[in-house]
Amino acid sequence: MFKEPICIGQTMNLEELLQLKETALNEAKAAKDVQEIEDIRIKYLSRKGIMPAVMKDLRNVAPEERGVFGKTANELKNELTKNLSESKDSMATKSADSLDFDFTLPGEWKNIGKAHPISMVIDSVVDIFSKLGFTVAEGQDIEDKYHNFEALNTPMYHPSLDQLDTFWFNDEQLLRTQTSPVQIRIMEKTKPPVRIVTPGRCYRRDTTDATHSANFHQIEGLYVDENVSLADLKSVLAYFAKEMMGKDVKVRFRPHFFPFTEPSVECDFSCHVCGGKGCRVCKGSGWIEIAGAGMVDPRVFKYVGYEGVTGFAFGMGIERIAMIKYGIPDIRFLYENDSRFLNQF
Ligand code: DAH
Repeated sequence: MFKEPICIGQTMNLEELLQLKETALNEAKAAKDVQEIEDIRIKYLSRKGIMPAVMKDLRNVAPEERGVFGKTANELKNELTKNLSESKDSMATKSADSLDFDFTLPGEWKNIGKAHPISMVIDSVVDIFSKLGFTVAEGQDIEDKYHNFEALNTPMYHPSLDQLDTFWFNDEQLLRTQTSPVQIRIMEKTKPPVRIVTPGRCYRRDTTDATHSANFHQIEGLYVDENVSLADLKSVLAYFAKEMMGKDVKVRFRPHFFPFTEPSVECDFSCHVCGGKGCRVCKGSGWIEIAGAGMVDPRVFKYVGYEGVTGFAFGMGIERIAMIKYGIPDIRFLYENDSRFLNQF
């Protein structure tokens, strides 16, 4: 290191400056690490360092030396700056080499994952209904016989109660077969009006194939108030159809039967693949069944103690909508978690 710091305030002559230059460049050459390089830079080149002081004193240098002195001082500054920065760079490369790391390799992207198509469909269904003032209600996967069947006006001899159709834990508890029990739970603890959608898992003893799974998802809707009519149900589902599938979709309602609604309907959307002409996806009919729905049966209102109101309810399969919307040919793709499949969404 430069042993005798130059005494600022004492004018330097050209010879001393040349000496200083040699010392500074030698110091730079000898620097062993980035910290030493920085120390040398601060010592000579920083605002309070040696070189600014030397330059400031230029006017006191003997006039005949002044020209060469100034030039030498500038050379010192430039060379020192260049040498310091070069050795800093070469140190960085050396330390990279010693890490045995190839900086030229392309970066590795971390796969941070994204929403599953089932979640995407749930999110868009919820979004659409929330524009109509529906809020999201949560239910429970483990239900009891009362909420899953009885309060939904389903007689105890109904085939869906069969051991072969439903996963029972014991005589009373089961894995819910539908999201409809959430209707009962919400009405039990809320005064009308009610306007909810409730997405969730359902379970049935179905043999798995291209369109069935023992574990699937539904989204249920319930709207109860004074003077709610079947026309309201139709307009809400028609609005939903257009938002979900595009404005060209047509909607039709067919009479049906569900124990908890009267009248009951099934709601079909025109096939988005063939536009209603008939194709493989809609099995030639031009229509795809999307939801079960109807006007809440007065007997259901009796179970929850509601009076003086009417309402509609609907329930639809999430997987079914996902398969139709994205053209997924087999429900099992949705559960295998194969990233080659999931990355397409
Ligand atoms: N829970 C019925 C099912 O799983 C679907 C359904 C039909 C829900 C009519 C409803 C409804 O709320 O009103 O098949």
